[in-house]
Amino acid sequence: MRLPEPRGPLTDALCTDLSAGTLSPATAELAERTAAAATDPLTDDDLQLALAICYELHYRGFDGVDEDWEWDPDLLRLRAHLERAHTAALRGLVGDLAVTDEPVDRQLTALIAADDGPSLSSYMSRTGSLEQWREYLTLRSVYHLKEADPHTFAVPRLSGRTKAAMVEIQADEYGGGAPERMHSELFAGMMRDLDLDAGYGALWDDAPAAAFASVNTMSLFGLHRRWRGAALGHLACVEMTSSEPSRRYSAGLRRLGFRGATTVFYDEHVEADAVHEQIASVDMCGSLVAEEPELAADVLFGAACSLAMDGLAAAHLLGAWESGGSALRGRAPVAA
Ligand SMILES: [Fe+2]
Ligand SMILES: [Fe+2]
Repeated sequence: MRLPEPRGPLTDALCTDLSAGTLSPATAELAERTAAAATDPLTDDDLQLALAICYELHYRGFDGVDEDWEWDPDLLRLRAHLERAHTAALRGLVGDLAVTDEPVDRQLTALIAADDGPSLSSYMSRTGSLEQWREYLTLRSVYHLKEADPHTFAVPRLSGRTKAAMVEIQADEYGGGAPERMHSELFAGMMRDLDLDAGYGALWDDAPAAAFASVNTMSLFGLHRRWRGAALGHLACVEMTSSEPSRRYSAGLRRLGFRGATTVFYDEHVEADAVHEQIASVDMCGSLVAEEPELAADVLFGAACSLAMDGLAAAHLLGAWESGGSALRGRAPVAA
């Protein structure tokens, strides 16, 4: 993919430096200042896109950007400023989470039950117009075209039952050996059916900060061994909150006249995630906490961040649509 369009001074400087092959000290200072000054790092377009660019070097990289940047110590130092601001904002958003003596799967269930975020799936099922659906898929494409990849970074940090459970889930996410069944590929097919460009990273320039905040949270957890508990809690929450909403999303597309060939991405998740939910919460998180009880708080933190990032995206989309606007960058308002 090509480097995205800059969204502010930091991404402007960062993209220039990555293309030129030298990181200027001024860019590093700018990152530090941007991170320190951001009033809401999670909705800051410049900060979130800069962090997403840094992380993308670990995924597929960018055309014309040297692959050696991935482990460049100065760039990692720059990224750390952004990560600190991002992590502090996550902590502030989810607040203090009480860890109890209950099995961790029950604590996860209780955390999810207490979530009172807006239900985007209900809106998309009953009300979402075709144009709103296209906006929703554009936002979600930042994640789903690399679906499962951020969590997969955590696999080598695990062992025993925990690892086996995670690999069992991830194997399904990657299509169980059939490339056309990979969830990222099912999502791409759905995008094409809605006349969207399904190329990897093709719609980054349209996506709002909330899309990057969500994936950056997963990348942060997946790429740092220190956050392995959060990575697993995040994945468990994704699996535990997927089955019923997927049924609603599928119904929303059928309401607009789409058939099973398009809704297969959601239909697959209705079935698979009803199973994944148990594997993720009981086998994967349960085994991790049995081995390393001190990680229980991180597991819950990761799950709470997943809920919070879904809430952030839902609030962004519904807020833009309610005020008659577009949820994407640089777009005219869409018809409801
Ligand atoms: Fe999936
Ligand atoms: Fe799943």
